[in-house]
Amino acid sequence: MPQLSAAHTPVDQLNADAIVVGIHSGPKGSDQVLLGPGAGPIDTALNGQLTKTLRALGATGSVGEVTKLATLGATTAPIVAAVGLGPAEEKPLAETMRRAAGSALRALAGADKVGIALASEEESWIRPVLEGAALGCYDFTEFKSDLPATYRAPVGEIILLASGDNANELNRVDILTQAVAHTRNWINTPANHLRPPQFADQARELAHQHGLTVEVLDEAALLEHGYGGILAVGQGSTAAPRLVRIAYQPENPRTSIALVGKGITFDTGGISIKPAQGMQDMKTDMSGAASVIATMLAISDLRPQVAVTAYVPMAENMPSGSAYRPGDVITMYGGRKIEILNTDAEGRIVLGDAITRACEDEPEYLIETSTLTGGQITALGHRVSGVMGTPELCERIKDAGSRTGEAMWPMPLPDDVKSGMESAIADFSQINAGWDRAGHMLQGGVYLGECVAEGVKWAHIDIAGPSNNTASAYGYTPKGGTGVPVRTLVELIEDIAAAG
Ligand code: BES
Ligand code: ZN
Ligand code: MN
Repeated sequence: MPQLSAAHTPVDQLNADAIVVGIHSGPKGSDQVLLGPGAGPIDTALNGQLTKTLRALGATGSVGEVTKLATLGATTAPIVAAVGLGPAEEKPLAETMRRAAGSALRALAGADKVGIALASEEESWIRPVLEGAALGCYDFTEFKSDLPATYRAPVGEIILLASGDNANELNRVDILTQAVAHTRNWINTPANHLRPPQFADQARELAHQHGLTVEVLDEAALLEHGYGGILAVGQGSTAAPRLVRIAYQPENPRTSIALVGKGITFDTGGISIKPAQGMQDMKTDMSGAASVIATMLAISDLRPQVAVTAYVPMAENMPSGSAYRPGDVITMYGGRKIEILNTDAEGRIVLGDAITRACEDEPEYLIETSTLTGGQITALGHRVSGVMGTPELCERIKDAGSRTGEAMWPMPLPDDVKSGMESAIADFSQINAGWDRAGHMLQGGVYLGECVAEGVKWAHIDIAGPSNNTASAYGYTPKGGTGVPVRTLVELIEDIAAAG
């Protein structure tokens, strides 16, 4: 992630490779562009020619559009990037500013040092602008042997041009964006380089470095304590499963929160094998785990007044002679017997064990996140996560998501979906007993809810689509792992720490 700093240098005099300023689109029907945040001093330096020049270059000021121009000595930085913020009469949303900053910084890849003036006139934009700018400077090149001569590395240094010293904001954004970068890196890492034992080792190492308490249950420990769900899913793989526990315990915590994240390092579907096309994307089936671990790293630095314990089950879902099968009845952690009907609905099986274990700590809140169902994408698309659980908590997560720009939408847990999951021979069925795929995402939510102890306020966030951007980059979101819902989890934890 880029180095972040702040300066009060006049926009036209900053020593940098490029400067980012804002522009607006003119009244509807006109082809005008108007000066936006930070653009005034640049226009003056260019003898009032900025908007005319931008128009000649095709700029319209629409949201996220980036137009670069060379100032040929008129400003200290040789390049100005003008990013569109939409109509001048509508005050841009924080998320518009975040995306605009991200788009600008992506367009400036190859430059080393960039000044950003987008928040120079509005204090409430400092955080989103910094966040979007830093998140736009992400790239994943670990598996490229040689970078081509045309390769343009992400911007290495961002200088915020705004009033105030902003040390707190710089520090906070640095912590958050590093957590997001860890998440994205893990998601983008191929599954042969991140099997459960390695993933657990990396989580332990990083958590230790952050002063967190870590415990890793290996196969023998899982067996000893009866984690039948995690073991069943992991038993088809030559790489054994793990359950990672990471604890953050401040002095005098206001309350306690459990986090749970799905860590399937690769999901073939198992014996109920998935079609070949697109299966490679199932290396991202540990996005929930990555997000939860990274959230712990962030809060260890931000230090909210609330105890947080993460439980992260890790397994590889493979078909083999030792794999679990459709029709098997397995005994979950805690003793409940589950009839497996489709080995590809493995997430809820590892998560059920982790949720039951997390509830033994008697947290006030339990928040789980997972790439649980393709049904989430069918219902809400690629960019909106589905949230199921205690209604008030779901609303709170939706609100937190609207503040972070990570869209979240509450979904119901209907009684008929639950009754459809009664098993003829075991305590409960893993999916609808008649293989009815209707309300597919809700079935996942219902199953997980059955594992939550009475009285715990809980939520399940299905991030199957939003955690992995399979299309091209936009705003501050790169192709591949996105880091959703790390910033929302942190926001929610801070909200709970502040308000209970
Ligand atoms: N990991 C998948 C869900 C998924 C699908 C994540 C697409 C990301 C993108 C999950 O384990 C799965 O296979 N779910 C099944 C459940 C079904 C068998 C009840 C699904 O969604 O079809
Ligand atoms: Zn899966
Ligand atoms: Mn699956």
